Amino acid sequence: MTNHRIALIPGDGIGTEVIPAARRVLDTVADRHGIRFAYESFDWSCERYAHQGAMMPDDGLDRLREYDAILLGAVGYPGVPDHVSLWGLLIPIRRGFQQYVNLRPIRIFDGVPSPLREARPGEVDFVVVRENVEGEYGEIGGRLARGFPEEMAVQEAVFTRKGVNRILDYAFALAEQRGHHLTSATKSNGIVHTMPFWDELVAERAALHPNVTWDQEHIDALAAKLVLDPARFDVVVASNLFGDILSDLAAAVAGSIGIAPAANLNPERDFPSMFEPVHGSAPDIAGRGIANPLGAIWSAAMMLDHLGHPEAAVEVTDAMAAVLTKTRVRTPDLGGTATTHQFTEALLELI
Ligand code: NAI
Ligand code: MG
Repeated sequence: MTNHRIALIPGDGIGTEVIPAARRVLDTVADRHGIRFAYESFDWSCERYAHQGAMMPDDGLDRLREYDAILLGAVGYPGVPDHVSLWGLLIPIRRGFQQYVNLRPIRIFDGVPSPLREARPGEVDFVVVRENVEGEYGEIGGRLARGFPEEMAVQEAVFTRKGVNRILDYAFALAEQRGHHLTSATKSNGIVHTMPFWDELVAERAALHPNVTWDQEHIDALAAKLVLDPARFDVVVASNLFGDILSDLAAAVAGSIGIAPAANLNPERDFPSMFEPVHGSAPDIAGRGIANPLGAIWSAAMMLDHLGHPEAAVEVTDAMAAVLTKTRVRTPDLGGTATTHQFTEALLELI
């Protein structure tokens, strides 16, 4: 038996509906692979913020530190500004635990129609590697002359050699395990300091990975190519802002935001990593029990992989593929009428 301690943060809205589904799947595969999960659930959320004035307690990170991994649903709810929920929980965890890799796999599954006519199952299979702790989402800057005609705002983007090199090295190493091709997202024609620096470091790190071919695209052209020819990509590496936008675009290309997973990784394993579906709390459908659980379930599979159980992870993603090809059970976002529970049951039967 391998024991793992997992911190669950269901969060808000459909986060509280999809995390129990992911947990059922984890428990089902765990039994068969000699894994035992011990969970602790934390009620950190906008609801907690409304009652106690903070998304999480002051010692939140210290309490999470002892876990092997964190599985998070989604945070954010009407009434609490999004920057409060994000900077009160998600970003402190990502930064405090040096989760500098945000990994977002994109696959088109048979049985999930892509909005793109040319995007075919089996052909579109790539990963966006997003830098997750620096870049454009910095805390350096400020506002001046609030309320006056001369009011101004300044926000600095911060790119460090250490921070860029480590995300590039992660992405090149991943390309070595996958299709041996890397695409770097840049904008060095318009952003004249940070992006040329990024490009120089890409060329430097590429020389250390001679068996990976690589190219770079300006982010605007890259967005168009992701839509026009998604099958040509293998690993796409991008800064924090570019990676954020590209991975949501890519999730839409794959057919539904409800399926897309994400991992926030601390590759050195000095701290726990965090796994979460890409989607948010979906207040428009929350409480109805119809959320698509696949994004959370795929995130749990990424967690299994990270914890050293790749066979168990593949069993979960195979069951996802099977439920979509072998059954017509679907939640409403995929054109069906099944509830979260029914969809999860159908998937469990195929494990
Ligand atoms: P959202 O992802 O919550 O919803 C966008 C649309 O997709 C909605 O129509 C929703 O019903 C649908 N959708 C999303 N996930 C689904 C699922 N699993 N099954 C079926 N349909 C699904 O994004 P939105 O509306 O922009 O944000 C809502 C709240 O979530 C905001 O407060 C936002 O800040 C927060 N948020 C949190 C994230 C996180 O915790 N990582 C990520 C994105 C948004
Ligand atoms: Mg996003």
